[in-house]
Amino acid sequence: MPQTPAHQEQLDAVAHAVDRASRADAATLAQLKTEILGRKAGTLTLILRSLAGLPSEERRAIGARANQLKRALEEAIAQRELALQQEARAPKALDWTMPSRPVWRGAVHPVNAVTDEICEVFRTLGFTRVTGPEAETEDYNFTKLNIGLDHPAADEHDTFYLGPGVLLRTHTSPMQARVMEQYQPPIRIVVPGRVYRRDAFDPSHSPVFEQIEGLAVDEGISFVDFKAAIDTFVKLFFSRDTAVRFRPSFFPFTEPSAEVDAQCQMCRGSGCSTCKQTGWLEIMGAGMVHPAVFENCGIDPERYTGYAFGMGVERIAMLRHGIPDIRLLWENDMRLLSQFSE
Ligand code: DAH
Repeated sequence: MPQTPAHQEQLDAVAHAVDRASRADAATLAQLKTEILGRKAGTLTLILRSLAGLPSEERRAIGARANQLKRALEEAIAQRELALQQEARAPKALDWTMPSRPVWRGAVHPVNAVTDEICEVFRTLGFTRVTGPEAETEDYNFTKLNIGLDHPAADEHDTFYLGPGVLLRTHTSPMQARVMEQYQPPIRIVVPGRVYRRDAFDPSHSPVFEQIEGLAVDEGISFVDFKAAIDTFVKLFFSRDTAVRFRPSFFPFTEPSAEVDAQCQMCRGSGCSTCKQTGWLEIMGAGMVHPAVFENCGIDPERYTGYAFGMGVERIAMLRHGIPDIRLLWENDMRLLSQFSE
């Protein structure tokens, strides 16, 4: 015959099972059902079955508790089963810890990034960034810059005309004249912007591209200042050990004029296909401002001197990033652009 303390212990175990049932998973519920309510050997079944052999007082007390616990357990199991069913049918719960899908937030286009970088280098050298109109007059685009209208650059084949005397600027140099007319020296400016030419697209040409113009005007600016500024720019923009060379050239608005080469970034000067085996890459046209340009813009060429330069940004971006074809910079192909995210 089971003794009271044993009954007590078993009843406590059943009370614990009621508690467990309210949190159990389906497998545990099934296990509790057999262990406690099972018809053959369930704990409660055995207790109830043993009541007959107990003294009447104990029988009443234990029987009452056992029946109460049985109802409580059955109810707890039923409720939990219902809750589990509802949970299974409910839409999948959100997992707040799951990492979100990456959203591409866009990036600065490599040409704009290089423009900013170049202007930033010149800012540290004291140059202010200014911009100007893309629709220009013949006067600013050519005449004031000492380019006669019979010059090949002014030829209809190179220039997009918008109307008589009005065109899409073929270079950023007209801003030299606009700034000199408006401000007295000292002047130090860089002018980034789009320019247009009647060229067909090919690996190194585009009918629209970006240039950066530079102009420094002051008393006593010499050819040495000019060379030093360009050399400093190349070393700050490319690297400290990049060599620079100046080749004599001709532009109507500078005298003397030069084309500036930087040591090839691909082969470091030993010769490769990018630099056509020369070890050098042309990066800009430049020179000392022609006195005629000063006169055209109301600046006294006896008192002031200066230097100017102009560079193609796509070309420099291509060199910097090893991009072989300028058209890649205009196609907006995500496979290229997404490589420039921060
Ligand atoms: N404007 C010239 C071009 O588009 C580039 C250039 C050459 C600009 C020499 C200058 C310069 O300021 O001094 O081809």
